[in-house]
Amino acid sequence: MAQHKSPAQGAPSAALNGRYAHVKGWGTANASIAMHNSELEKLVDTSHDWIVERTGISERRIANERESVVTLGVKAAQQALAKADMLPDEIELIIVATSTPYYYFPSTACLIQDKLGATNAGAFDIVAACTGFIYALGLASAQIKAGGVNTALIIGTETLSRIMDWQDRSTCILFGDGAGAFVLKVSDAPGGIQDVVMHSDGSGADLLYASTGIRETWDGDASEQRLYMNGREVFRFATRVMASATHEVVAKAGLTLDDIDVIVPHQANQRIIQAAAKTMKLPMERFFVNLDHYGNTSAASIPLAIGEAVEKGAIKAQDKIVLVGFGAGLTWGAALLEWDSIEEPPRSAVRELVRSAWYILARMRSFLSRVLRFLERVIFRPPGEVYGEKLDK
Ligand code: COA
Repeated sequence: MAQHKSPAQGAPSAALNGRYAHVKGWGTANASIAMHNSELEKLVDTSHDWIVERTGISERRIANERESVVTLGVKAAQQALAKADMLPDEIELIIVATSTPYYYFPSTACLIQDKLGATNAGAFDIVAACTGFIYALGLASAQIKAGGVNTALIIGTETLSRIMDWQDRSTCILFGDGAGAFVLKVSDAPGGIQDVVMHSDGSGADLLYASTGIRETWDGDASEQRLYMNGREVFRFATRVMASATHEVVAKAGLTLDDIDVIVPHQANQRIIQAAAKTMKLPMERFFVNLDHYGNTSAASIPLAIGEAVEKGAIKAQDKIVLVGFGAGLTWGAALLEWDSIEEPPRSAVRELVRSAWYILARMRSFLSRVLRFLERVIFRPPGEVYGEKLDK
């Protein structure tokens, strides 16, 4: 397979022109409903013991009717901005990684941008399934290092519960909803995101996919959205690439596995992580795992795990961390970063207040923009506008 042959990507390094991309803020959002395995026993022919033994999952969080990828993403982003003590208009780029966008278009990133009032940011979504957060980190940190932007907000947000077939016991036991976010900022101090590797192999697309619900022809029937997975093949692929991507990113940074303090893997299955740990000859204590109470939250799983690891003191200042992900595509990748500080920067109470007011004003700004657009259309039609009139031949 391609993953064994591929050389390390890009140049070996951390920074261009003394520009480093640091994680300055992080945030998480849990979906409201806690669904224990015992609930699933009522839906499909399964048992708590089977699920725990095969996956390590006991519980997952499910979005309630007021929650969505947008509300969860906004909550995680607001936390990350507060930790970084930044205002939304300081953000220049928003990348949202999701496999369950609110619409096909516009992007979920634009919906979140509007709710935050991040008026100076470009915003777009990426689909790299469960590897999405690693890809977003790769894109955002490269933009910062290259001087394209000074700040970026990256968000992994998912409501997998809404594309799940709740009659399919081979998949519905695995997934959950949630969101996590990072604020990245340029600095001339070495550290931060050191290296990122990204890979894909579309020949494995049929192993894990969700059909879109888009009609096959212009006049055909809308196909049902459905998640399909070949669990055994995905399992084999995952254990292989977790080890290869980790080795690759560590080598690219000129380090060895001994230099790594914590590995935060995509939280898909405890047995996958154990198998990868065995392949890498690393003790499980080096891996941070929290899938027992979240299940697999796809692009949200790594930032959700980071948030919890920092909170529990499992990640400390100056720790070297590898984030490693894999998922549909097939896609896989890893990032190596040095964690800046577990101390929250001193926050200004005034800025805290301004931030709270900002989110209320963002709603008003959004509403007023719509009203103005409407008025412009019906009253102040610009001179020379030919809308509704025939063009001169
Ligand atoms: N409860 C009870 N039995 C179940 C079950 C469930 N939820 N799901 C499947 N089974 C049954 C199967 O029907 C099969 O029965 P059979 O032997 O009578 O045919 C048996 O359990 C074994 O199934 P199998 O698919 O071989 O189990 P497994 O050990 O491979 O575990 C997964 C299944 C899905 C947990 C595992 O393959 C996996 O985690 N794969 C990776 C999935 C993943 O991480 N996807 C996301 C990647 S981002």
